[in-house]
Amino acid sequence: MSTPITATLQSRLPAVGTTIFTVMSALATQHQAVNLGQGFPDFACDPALVDEVTRAMQAGHNQYPPMAGVAALREAVAAKIESLYGRSYHALDEITITAGATQAILTAVMALVHPGDEVIVLEPCYDSYQPNIVLAGAVAVRVPLTPGSFRPDFAKIAAAISPKTRAIIINTPHNPSGTVWSQADMLALQDLLEPTNVFVISDEVYEHMVFDGAQHQSVARFPSLAARTLIVSSFGKTYHVTGWKIGFVAAPAALTAEFRKVHQFNVFTVNTPVQHALAAYMSDAKPYANLPAFYQRKRDLFRLGLAQTAFKLLPCEGTFFQCADISEVSDLNETEFCEWLTREIGVAAIPMSALYVDGFDQRVVRFCFAKEDSTLQTALARLQSL
Ligand SMILES: Cc1ncc(COP(=O)(O)O)c(C=O)c1O
Repeated sequence: MSTPITATLQSRLPAVGTTIFTVMSALATQHQAVNLGQGFPDFACDPALVDEVTRAMQAGHNQYPPMAGVAALREAVAAKIESLYGRSYHALDEITITAGATQAILTAVMALVHPGDEVIVLEPCYDSYQPNIVLAGAVAVRVPLTPGSFRPDFAKIAAAISPKTRAIIINTPHNPSGTVWSQADMLALQDLLEPTNVFVISDEVYEHMVFDGAQHQSVARFPSLAARTLIVSSFGKTYHVTGWKIGFVAAPAALTAEFRKVHQFNVFTVNTPVQHALAAYMSDAKPYANLPAFYQRKRDLFRLGLAQTAFKLLPCEGTFFQCADISEVSDLNETEFCEWLTREIGVAAIPMSALYVDGFDQRVVRFCFAKEDSTLQTALARLQSL
């Protein structure tokens, strides 16, 4: 009898461990800390949206939907983009419903990027980008956002573009810094890419969280940029339902066709009743139109409380994240500080270094303020005791 061979496991992602969000959430639970780490609301979504899901299930919308998504939802998304950003995407062949933005970004990378290509990422960035690029057999070329302001440095981005550059991933409003790209930033990117073959994956999941009267500068507003871009967004962030994992991609037909080739063998289709529910719910613009004011009030409440501590506040132009410099509060590094804060003070935060591949530590941590006022008050009282 021959000896059975044990297959040797060779990781596709040897450098990847458990995400910082999972680690900090588990630590927060263990120490009964207020969890301002992971980015999700602790309040309920609109009950009317839940009613729409129930209605859709009771109406029998429980089998596979079309691969690209329920037509009514794709039409609602196209209408919203046109009314807000002035670009018309065809619901039939330019909008695809996805299982959240994370799946959309992986699918976009797998659809566009070939082994040996380079993809530019602007650090710090959402932690899925880099492993997605590795899975595609490509190389992530990391360009830092300017430390302190976290604004894009177009000279550095230009210097990173090579004949191997297939794509750049951008994110505005930006997680973790809360920076919002200006019209001038978008025009600079458009001009920079004009003579190149570089595609753009534009992560716009926080598109409805822009404060102080500013406007979200969606790629959809910039025709020549939009022609080379897959725009990714997430219903989870907009409607306080991060656990539903549903989002969309808007892109020109040729890009969408390639995207769907991967999508159909990745998730194939996305939760039918939730798609019907969102389609019905989106006929009212108020929920997303009111979101800037809703989150701006929470941002201001949280900033006012933090101003009474030794944390140094960074600007927050958008998203539901507030970053703070810890140098006057502690000598610990970011990760040690976040662990200590969770364990000893009872507030969980995210070290910004976790969103750099090389763990660059600039003494900045990120708090999520998508929480009930009472949760924020409890956290602030604890932070003010420092
Ligand atoms: C910048 C960014 N992109 C994408 C996502 C993921 O969105 P989804 O939950 O729809 O996958 C997040 C969630 O935190 C995010 O912050």
